[in-house]
Amino acid sequence: MNVRPRVFVTREIMQEALDLIDQHADMEVWPDEEPPSPQILREKVANAEGLLTNIMDRVDAQLLESAPRLKVVSQLAVGLDNVDVAGATRRGIPVGYTPGVLAKATADVGFALLMSAARRIGESDRWVRDGQWTLAFHPMRWLGVDIHEKTLGIIGLGQIGLEMARRGRGFDMRIIYHSRTRRPELEAEYGLEYVDLPTLLAEADFVSLHVPLTPETHHYIGTPELRQMKSTAVLINVARGPVVDSAALSTALKEGWIYAAGLDVTDPEPIPADDPLLTLPNVVISPHVGSASLVSRGAMCMLAARNLVAGLAGRPLDRCANPEVYETRAN
Ligand code: NAP
Ligand code: GLV
Repeated sequence: MNVRPRVFVTREIMQEALDLIDQHADMEVWPDEEPPSPQILREKVANAEGLLTNIMDRVDAQLLESAPRLKVVSQLAVGLDNVDVAGATRRGIPVGYTPGVLAKATADVGFALLMSAARRIGESDRWVRDGQWTLAFHPMRWLGVDIHEKTLGIIGLGQIGLEMARRGRGFDMRIIYHSRTRRPELEAEYGLEYVDLPTLLAEADFVSLHVPLTPETHHYIGTPELRQMKSTAVLINVARGPVVDSAALSTALKEGWIYAAGLDVTDPEPIPADDPLLTLPNVVISPHVGSASLVSRGAMCMLAARNLVAGLAGRPLDRCANPEVYETRAN
C-alpha cells in the first residue's frame, strides 16, 4: 500500500492550491489567523514530509532538526529571510519560493507609495476625513514634489527593481540603479544608468529599495545614507523593514533631511502604535501588501503548491532557492 506523504500548511491559502496539494498528500492546514508558535510548528513537522510556510514562520535550525522526514520546504514568498536556506541545503532539503509572479504587483504598490508620498495623498486624505477641508482651494497649499522627469534611483535591480524602473520610464523619469550585479543588457534595453551608491543617494529624487534582507543589507539605509540624500528626496521601501534604520528614518523625516517616505514594510511588523513614524505627516505606510492582489496571490499559492508537490515526489522544484541541493544529493 502506498502511504501518502504528510504536509503541514502554516496558514489558509487559496482553495485551488490546497486542492492540488490534497491530490498528492495528507494535509493539515493551520486554521488560525495568528501563525503557529515555534513549538507547535516543531510538533507539526515532526512527522511531516512537506512544509508550506510564509514570511511569518521561522524555519530555523531548531525547526529543521525537529523534522527528520522533511523532504521539501515551500515558502509562499520571494523573500527568504525567515528560512535557514543554508541549513536546509546541508540537510538536502530543497526550498521552494515564489519569484516573478509577484514582481509587477509589488512594483505597483511601490509606485503607488512613491506617488502618494510625493503628492501627499495619504496626508491630504486624512486631512479631508478630519473635516479640515474648509477652503476649496489655495494656490500655496498642498504643494508636493514632481514625479515626472525626475530621477528614480533603484537599489537592487532584480525582478521587482526592474518592474519599478519600467514604471518610472512611463513617467519619463531618468533611471539610475545600484545593485550587486551590474546588468548591461537591461541598461541597454531600458535606458538605465549604473552608478555607485553615493552617486545614487546624491542624485536620486526617489530612492527605491529592492534588495533582500541579508546580513549585508541590514540597515543598508541609515543616518549616513539619509544624510547624503536630497532634502527633496523620497525614500520608498517595499523590500524588508530592517533594510532601513527606522530610528534614523524618523529623525530624517522629522528634521527635513529628506522630504518623505513610502513604506510597505516596517521594523518590526506590525508597526507598534507608539512608533515615532506614525506621528509624522510625511510618511505613508501600507501593511506589507506588495503582492496582495487577487491574481498575484493566486499565482503565488499555485506556485508554492506545485513546488511542494514536486519536492514530495523527489522532482526538481519549479522555483528552487537552493538548486545546489541537487548537486549535494548526487555526490
Ligand atoms: P531579486 O529578483 O532576487 O532581486 C534582488 C536584487 O537585489 C538582485 O538584483 C540582487 O543582486 C540585489 N542584491 C542582493 N544583495 C545586494 C546587496 N547587498 N547590494 C546590492 N544589491 C543586492 O528579488 P525580488 O523578487 O526583486 O525581491 C526583492 C525583495 O523584495 C525580496 O527579497 C523581499 O524581501 C521583498 N519583497 C517584498 C514584497 C512586499 O510585499 N513588500 C513582495 C515581494 C518581495 P544579484 O542580481 O547579484 O542577485
Ligand atoms: C513578500 O514579502 C515576499 O517576500 O514575497
